[in-house]
Amino acid sequence: MKNLKAVILAAGEGTRMKSKKPKVLHEILNKTMIDYVIDTAKGCGAEEVCVVVGHKADEVKAAIVKDGVSFALQEKQKGTGHAVMMAGDFIEPNRDILILYGDTPLIQGDTLEKLVEKHRQESFGATVVSAAIENPEGYGRIVRDSNGKFLKIVEHKDATQEERCIKEINTGIYIFKGADLITSLAKLDNHNVQGEYYLPDCLELILKAGGKVGAVVAEDDKEFFGVNSRVQLAEAAKIMQQRINRRHMENGVTLADPENTYIDRDVKIGIDTIILPGCVLEGKTEIGEDCKIGPNSRMTDMHIGNGVTFQSSTGIESEIGDNTTAGPFAYIRPNCKIGKNVKIGDFVEVKNSTVGNGTKIPHLAYIGDTDAGEKVNFGCGSIMVNYDGEKKHRTTVEDNVFVGCNVNLVAPVTIKAGAYIAAGSTITRDVSEDVLAVARARQQVIEGWKKKRMKKES
Ligand code: UD1
Ligand code: CA
Repeated sequence: MKNLKAVILAAGEGTRMKSKKPKVLHEILNKTMIDYVIDTAKGCGAEEVCVVVGHKADEVKAAIVKDGVSFALQEKQKGTGHAVMMAGDFIEPNRDILILYGDTPLIQGDTLEKLVEKHRQESFGATVVSAAIENPEGYGRIVRDSNGKFLKIVEHKDATQEERCIKEINTGIYIFKGADLITSLAKLDNHNVQGEYYLPDCLELILKAGGKVGAVVAEDDKEFFGVNSRVQLAEAAKIMQQRINRRHMENGVTLADPENTYIDRDVKIGIDTIILPGCVLEGKTEIGEDCKIGPNSRMTDMHIGNGVTFQSSTGIESEIGDNTTAGPFAYIRPNCKIGKNVKIGDFVEVKNSTVGNGTKIPHLAYIGDTDAGEKVNFGCGSIMVNYDGEKKHRTTVEDNVFVGCNVNLVAPVTIKAGAYIAAGSTITRDVSEDVLAVARARQQVIEGWKKKRMKKES
């Protein structure tokens, strides 16, 4: 949307969180509350966003790494109107300004788009989003005349008994014409019970100056749910989880138990993939089609192809190709590129390694800092000895190598294509193509040993 900017208020302390951390930096599904609000503002077309910071301002600023976001500082929290005044330079007369709160992460783009549309169609100087709620205690109330025309917003603490009976409340979300916001902010005073500059008073001032003000009733009051405590944080997280999970199911993903599936907002999943209970899919994870994930699997920033099985395993910042299986109890650590039709079996750890197509690592192995080719077989207990106590070294295992059970490959070392490594070998030197390398003591048999020993003991 053209000519749209957003101001996000986030200067308040949020004492009820009982936290060392600023309130807006608390996370829902691995994303801070303020990030949700910024993304939503941008998603609905705000070209630039200004975040008003105050309490622990530096910490909040440092946590927001996004393009098109600037900051305004409100040193003392003298009210929502005062907070917006601090963003003075950001507000341009010929642009519309959305006002949002940093602690209302559930707000959705569609809702804001509708608000902007209505505001522009009716040529309002300001439009506020209201909601009808059962228990309006604490909120600002929307006062209308007998024809239902908006008059003003009165804060709970300033309201008369009669006004307190009004159930239509101010959600705290508004859009202003820049010019009207600038002139009304200039007239704002703090002559009220709390001695604060109230942003809602701007609406009455715009009306009095001959402008038009609208109040649109929200369809879903959950969207404006503000988080003030850890209990509310959990409530908001639940709603977010349900929303995300619903979207995936609508897009063709099966979630066996959505209540026990935690998917971050930016995760992508292909159709006909099945997510079993207890999965946590984080960050920018992308999963292809026809996969079976879980139960109890965790992925962070993973890229998974089609037809992959990933059972009771953990994967971090790595790639897995089509039709590969992992788990149960595999641990894929950062920077792995695992090919197609690979088998990563139980209790296998892979780190900073490439694994070629068709390679099998069926059980109990450590593949670290390794480049493994195609169709390699790593026997049970294969260990890449990558660390000499000071430095990490790489191991190369070329195509079609057969690594027997309980083998140590002491890096740096290269095993050439087609070689066989005998079980129990500790390999410290390069092995050439198609040979059998045996590096273990030859078996000895001492005849009559038990008898001799029994004699000694008696
Ligand atoms: C405000 C509205 C009220 C509305 C309610 C909805 C005012 C005067 N009242 O209530 O009509 O029903 O929101 O939740 O606006 N903030 C700052 N600086 C300040 C004060 C607040 O940045 O000086 C930020 C807070 O961090 C918070 C947001 O503004 O994110 C709202 O502040 P809060 O104190 O919760 O709102 P109220 O004033 O109680
Ligand atoms: Ca409040």
